[in-house]
Amino acid sequence: MKGNKRPYIILSAAMTIDGKIASKTGDIEISDEEDWMAVHKLRTEVDAIMVGKSSIIQDNPKLHIKFYDHKGYYRIVLDSTLSIPIESNVVRYNPEIYPTIIATTENASMERIREFESNNIEVIKSGTGSRVDIIKLMPILYKKGIRRILLEGGGNLNWSFIRDNIVDEIRIFIAPWIVGGKDAVSLVEGEGFAKMIESPRYSLINVTNRNNYVILKYRKMKR
Ligand SMILES: NC(=O)c1ccc[n+]([C@@H]2O[C@H](COP(=O)([O-])OP(=O)(O)OC[C@H]3O[C@@H](n4cnc5c(N)ncnc54)[C@H](OP(=O)(O)O)[C@@H]3O)[C@@H](O)[C@H]2O)c1
Repeated sequence: MKGNKRPYIILSAAMTIDGKIASKTGDIEISDEEDWMAVHKLRTEVDAIMVGKSSIIQDNPKLHIKFYDHKGYYRIVLDSTLSIPIESNVVRYNPEIYPTIIATTENASMERIREFESNNIEVIKSGTGSRVDIIKLMPILYKKGIRRILLEGGGNLNWSFIRDNIVDEIRIFIAPWIVGGKDAVSLVEGEGFAKMIESPRYSLINVTNRNNYVILKYRKMKR
């Protein structure tokens, strides 16, 4: 259907053997330099990079591209209540190269919307629920010319995309250690499926290993 076209979604994450993308204290030192370079290369191949608001609040990433020439891209943050600080790097750091969009809900305060807009942030309202409606959001982003999105987590945002079965490709870097902890964020959080049969299926398209690290690439199976 013409009006419902959506961007291609690539989920990218670095995790431990036990599937944790951060330790219980929020330590995210998982990737090595070579992996960072590969992730930054991947960033040059997409129109936007997307993260959940907790990743912004906890890590304050710039979500920029190092190591390679590029023409910039959108940074997209999902924040239902517009609660990320205005001083965040996604707001302040190089907005002319990396324009930032915050996707929120119809319930977000007008005052906060104006505050972000006056800081050159585009605010898109999607859905009336407690969280951003990603199914409604996708065609809006597509209409803006965004064809490929790199979804860089965290675990709760990953769950929404997996639940709605709109992750087309997955790239996982696995570090050879185990960090454990029920409060350490996993690759996919959220409610989870009751049965294996409900979960989206993927074909393994590539496996690379070096220095005890493993990089896995999967593509969505058509069922
Ligand atoms: N190793 C890696 O590759 C990697 C990559 C990224 C992040 N991380 C780590 O992951 C951790 C954060 O993960 P997290 O799971 O706590 O948080 P998250 O996924 O970054 O953000 C989740 C928040 O986004 C907001 N949100 C808005 N709409 C949403 C929707 N439709 N679906 C899901 N969330 C939505 C919600 O807050 P509101 O309801 O308040 O809007 C939700 O609580 C951090 O420690 C970060 O360092 C690791």
